[in-house]
Amino acid sequence: HWVMSDFIQHEIQRIRNLVGPKAQVIGAVSGGVDSTVAARLMTEAIGDRFHAVLVDNGVMRHNECQQVKETLEKHLGINLTVIDGANLFLGRLKGLTEPEAKRKVIGNTFIDLFEEEAIRIEKAAENTPNAGKVEYFLQGTLYPDVIESLSFKGPSATIKTHHNVGGLPARMMNGQGLKLIEPLRELFKDEVREFGRQLGIHEDLVMRHPFPGPGIAIRIIGEVTPERVAIARKADHIFISMIREAGIYNEMSQAYAGLDTNRAVGVMGDARVYGYIIILRAVTTTNFMTAEPYEFSFDLLKKIARRIVNEVDGVARVTYDITSKPPGTIELE
Ligand code: XMP
Repeated sequence: HWVMSDFIQHEIQRIRNLVGPKAQVIGAVSGGVDSTVAARLMTEAIGDRFHAVLVDNGVMRHNECQQVKETLEKHLGINLTVIDGANLFLGRLKGLTEPEAKRKVIGNTFIDLFEEEAIRIEKAAENTPNAGKVEYFLQGTLYPDVIESLSFKGPSATIKTHHNVGGLPARMMNGQGLKLIEPLRELFKDEVREFGRQLGIHEDLVMRHPFPGPGIAIRIIGEVTPERVAIARKADHIFISMIREAGIYNEMSQAYAGLDTNRAVGVMGDARVYGYIIILRAVTTTNFMTAEPYEFSFDLLKKIARRIVNEVDGVARVTYDITSKPPGTIELE
């Protein structure tokens, strides 16, 4: 596929010219296809002067940080730092119930940690061949994100503040004087995926469903507590594993198990329990602006529900969200 390879070579050269021989670049990675492709490209272009940072915000999925670390470092040779911010994030989320307040705290905490890391990288590089200022901030922005952010008319027009479009880079840029570098800003998702394959990224990662920056926090209605995160995480892991085993993962665009604020009564054995309510959601969409609920086989759905109630302590009910978008949204908050 010469057209794509051409694009890769062209982008690498463009990055080298832009960054020059000394400057360093920092970039956040999440384990998603966009940030991974951007990071791989950057590594190809400037080697260890690119610093990928993975922030564990305490609301990632089951084993996600470990898996991302392993894939990026071992398989893709990306220079990666993992920052364990779980306790800090969960501490700051305590008591918050309003969706946008939760997003804001997560976005701001993320930037606080990122700014500290940029300073640490500069200090560590002093007196080494890599010495140089951190001048650029890498973002895996795609063409549809560019279009969407251009159409923002200010806070009143924002339905949800998406953390990789609104807010985040602005404060990064002002605080650090960092310049934005966006090698994917002319590409659509299917092009980034193709690009990822050509860069040797594993098919599972290439086809991974998008995962929001605020993670499980916007899939838990109301307060995010360590206990509730653990329950949502376990249920989600069962749900996604069963979807993968059934061979239908690529038939849906996004799927997750979320958690309701309320509890419900159930019977388990001889006992009456008052337990958590899991909300399963799986959608198909082409552009994420509109979406349809995925049409599961009812039999599989019942099997999934049974396993979640049996295996996740504290869960009394499992529901499946059949709301389209609009009027629903893909995430619960
Ligand atoms: P909604 O829930 O608005 O989601 O239908 C549409 C798409 O956007 C993702 N999403 C987010 N991504 N930060 C992100 O990085 C956010 O705050 C956020 N909110 C929603 C969502 O996962 C879906 O792909």
